[in-house]
Amino acid sequence: CGITGYIGFRDAYPIVINGLKRLEYRGYDSSGVMLYDGEEMRMSKTKGKVSDLELITNKEEERKLGKIGIGHTRWATHGVPNDVNSHPHFSQSGDLVIVHNGIIENYDTIKQELINRGYKFHSDTDTEVLINLIEEVKKNEKCKLGKAVQIALTNVIGAYAIAVFDKTKPNEIVVARLGSPIAIGVGKDNKEFFVASDASPFIEYTKEAIYLEDGELAIIKIGKEVRVRQIKNDKIVDATIQELQMSLEQIEKGGYDHFMLKEIYEQPKAITDTYRGRMLADEGIIRMSGVDDNLQKFLNADRIIIIACGTSWHAGLVGEYLFEDMARIPVEVEYASEFRYRNPIITSKDVVIAISQSGETADTLAAIKLAKSKGAFVFGVCNVVGSSIARETHAGAYTHAGPEIGVASTKAFTTQITVLSLIALKLGEEKGTLSKNVFHTYLQRMQLIPGKVEELLKIDKKVQEIARVYKDATNCLYLGRGFNFPVALEGALKLKEISYIHAEGYPAAEMKHGPIALIDENMPIFVIATNKGHYEKVVSNIQEIKARSGKIIAIVTEGDTEVKKIADHVIEIPETEEALTPLLTTIPLQLLSYHIAVFLEKDVDQPRNLAKAVTVE
Ligand code: G6P
Repeated sequence: CGITGYIGFRDAYPIVINGLKRLEYRGYDSSGVMLYDGEEMRMSKTKGKVSDLELITNKEEERKLGKIGIGHTRWATHGVPNDVNSHPHFSQSGDLVIVHNGIIENYDTIKQELINRGYKFHSDTDTEVLINLIEEVKKNEKCKLGKAVQIALTNVIGAYAIAVFDKTKPNEIVVARLGSPIAIGVGKDNKEFFVASDASPFIEYTKEAIYLEDGELAIIKIGKEVRVRQIKNDKIVDATIQELQMSLEQIEKGGYDHFMLKEIYEQPKAITDTYRGRMLADEGIIRMSGVDDNLQKFLNADRIIIIACGTSWHAGLVGEYLFEDMARIPVEVEYASEFRYRNPIITSKDVVIAISQSGETADTLAAIKLAKSKGAFVFGVCNVVGSSIARETHAGAYTHAGPEIGVASTKAFTTQITVLSLIALKLGEEKGTLSKNVFHTYLQRMQLIPGKVEELLKIDKKVQEIARVYKDATNCLYLGRGFNFPVALEGALKLKEISYIHAEGYPAAEMKHGPIALIDENMPIFVIATNKGHYEKVVSNIQEIKARSGKIIAIVTEGDTEVKKIADHVIEIPETEEALTPLLTTIPLQLLSYHIAVFLEKDVDQPRNLAKAVTVE
């Protein structure tokens, strides 16, 4: 979910509503806004997107009045997405109002207790329970809003980012976080403040932001400095104001039809930005402070455990091949959600690498905490600077891909692979498992990758034509071996995410142990068959598909002749080292999914049911 808020001297409505639009990547099954005009709190909320919310507020212009507002865009956890369950939620008296991102796990017990005390509930949400708990505490303790929120939060179990407003004290907003991010934008001379799940909603108004840490609460009052304290022990915290680096232009579409397409096309630059300053190809040096400062930990590691979810997990799988091949360190790649609940064996000799674009994925964050508690050294690979995972890990490397808005991850994936390649190369060189010569060759080849991606993007039209042929398929298979097996998984994930076509990724040789039964003349099969990656074996797999009349779309190295004879379509990628091919083979598969989704008129940037950052487990 995403939350936004404003308190100050401007009209709050456009700030809150535009902020919600920028946060829609966090969830978009319902949305709502509350504006306070000095007398009344006006609430509008609805199932659907922020644009649906605007339709309501446009009908009644007075709903847009007020210098204070809070808004919410939701990704449902408790209760179906409908108007009633949408946020904000009022307390019983109607004085307090809340927006909430996260889950209150013990809401049922608290709800019962409140019902016993005469509270009535209108929605199925845990959030309505929380705001009434705050109201009850405020009444019983006869305390101010900030204190009431603090006491109430000590009684809840779960995760949250909240913003609360009290119309009887209309010059403040109280915010708090545990597990879900919250940023406070600080206006000039403290005359106005912004609240949001990330800084994108207020970037054009202020570059100064305070990021709350887990377990902190902030009281935001016009004309005063933001006061931050720890919820549990009431300790005052020095709120450090950070200078934001993001620009507004960076988060807008820049002429492309969709953010996803823009982000696919940004990959040459994103990959360059990832290795810029870290890889000095001519000198034969890789320097990454997070690795350099902890080199012994990496070199002495018994094994590397990579934890992640979704696309980041696929990047982790590529990492497994890279680390084992180049640095000869055993690697395990785990879904964060499985890892954390499996009572895993972790020791202080393990290095854990957590990969996350958003840096906010709840399962990954929890897995990190678990690994830390067992004494492991935890290294983060995140895209979002200052995100929870970036802060929770002992050290790390940012991917520097720039903001990724499309829900289906693209440039985050290739830049994660770039970072992992750099680390694997560095460790391989340090350990001597890669000869100087090979190491140098890799660096030279890596430097050529952005240019090759650029070249590949030029075949977009051809990929679009292939997409047109297969857009009506109901099932697709993606096959790859070695370094390109994870790319097959990622290709399949991209297609399901945005076009809703069922797709499976498989190691090419596993095809004969099951998926082969599905193959008939209606089944498109995307096979990655680059010239160095067990080429002959993949060619045999392609023959097996052909024998069963499956449609073959092959990704081959330029100049290939053998596969061309058998496949229905071929897409050529430029030549490079096998270990670096995932950075190239991924590109046509991203474009293919994109074009199929566009042909099918799906919502490419905001596919149904998904969220960009899943901050609930
Ligand atoms: C969500 C997104 C995916 C993403 C996954 C992990 O499911 O829709 O695109 O791969 O979360 O996110 P992270 O931010 O941790 O990489």
